[in-house]
Amino acid sequence: MQIGIPTETVANENRVAATPETVKKLVQAGHQVVIERGAGLKAAYIDSAYEQAGAVISADAYNGSQIILKVRAPVGDEIKKLPAQSIVVAMFDPHRNPDLDQFAAQQVSAFALELLPRTLSRAQNMDVLSSQANLAGYKSVLLAAAEYQRMFPMLMTAAGTVKPARVVIMGVGVAGLQAIATAKRLGAVVEATDLRPTARDQVESLGGKWLDVPMSEEEKQRAADAAKNGYGWTPGEQYIQDQAAIVDKAVSNADIVITTALLPGRAAPRLIKASTVAKMKPGSIILDMAVESGGNVEGSRNGENVMTDNGVKILGIPNIPSTLSTEASALYSRNVFNFIETLFDSEKKLALNLDEEIQKALLITHNGQVLLKRG
Ligand code: NAI
Repeated sequence: MQIGIPTETVANENRVAATPETVKKLVQAGHQVVIERGAGLKAAYIDSAYEQAGAVISADAYNGSQIILKVRAPVGDEIKKLPAQSIVVAMFDPHRNPDLDQFAAQQVSAFALELLPRTLSRAQNMDVLSSQANLAGYKSVLLAAAEYQRMFPMLMTAAGTVKPARVVIMGVGVAGLQAIATAKRLGAVVEATDLRPTARDQVESLGGKWLDVPMSEEEKQRAADAAKNGYGWTPGEQYIQDQAAIVDKAVSNADIVITTALLPGRAAPRLIKASTVAKMKPGSIILDMAVESGGNVEGSRNGENVMTDNGVKILGIPNIPSTLSTEASALYSRNVFNFIETLFDSEKKLALNLDEEIQKALLITHNGQVLLKRG
């Protein structure tokens, strides 16, 4: 099989879908790997390292490739270059991708890595949402700290005492947990909350304080049922009101707020109102990690830093994993490699199997059809 690794073309995308490490493994597995000249440069993987790993460097990684590995879904002219019948593995942002009909029309088999069934333990090493969110959670704290005009740790100095920063993390999934750990390491006092009551133990084990939103017995049962499938539950009016009051109090007193709450395939929940932002101290920082999915914070804007009238800075930084491109590519490309392996049988022959649980979940276009259920 010829496997092509093109350069990413979306603005500010610094990652690459294969590293010299995974190229070597693909070559060892009997594939020919063609990598576009300079494709890994922004992630600090240079052409000579790919060559040493056994790749062919080319001006065009699409031509003749049966499998194309990408970070982001092909767009515009990239789509036209996809060979008919080729397999494309990428983060397609499937529920918002406007080009699915075009992929189908070109007879492309598109695998969207975000659709991985996360409760399957054998699929954990293919989980791009986790690998990238982990890095984003860490970096979000550093980005907020760099904007904050004060310190994170408490200091006792001859010139007086420096108070520790109060950090609130909203949404304690993979990114939120890493954000708590990072903020704690920097010396902050951390509070956190999540829809999933099971996150409480994780927050406390990292030294954070759990912001508790009261739940009825029925809500607890719904949360427990949803957890079995790896999903959150949809809160009712009472929970939303109670949560808003608790968030209002905690956020008003915070120096740094990082929001990470996402709902797979849907717009992000709005957790912080403008009226709460208006109560925050001047110099406080909010980083809205959900900004690309509609935002958790009223007033955040994708790709912009907004200064409010009361001196609060709302950071709307998109694609944070791309700012850690070396590490993000290393983890992403291992996820991709682990998935690719499942496409081949024990005789190393391509074996697309639409009844296989992982392939079935990820395949969004095939044989001229859009398979993703759009709703
Ligand atoms: P995510 O990125 O989709 O969302 C981040 C967090 O926001 C989640 O914890 C979610 O519960 C929370 N959230 C959503 N709406 C909210 C609201 N209205 N108020 C407060 N919080 C809200 O989630 P992520 O990080 O991708 O995964 C979430 C959890 O799923 C992880 O903590 C992990 O435990 C679990 N998971 C399980 C896996 C497995 O069973 N193999 C694999 C990966 C994740």
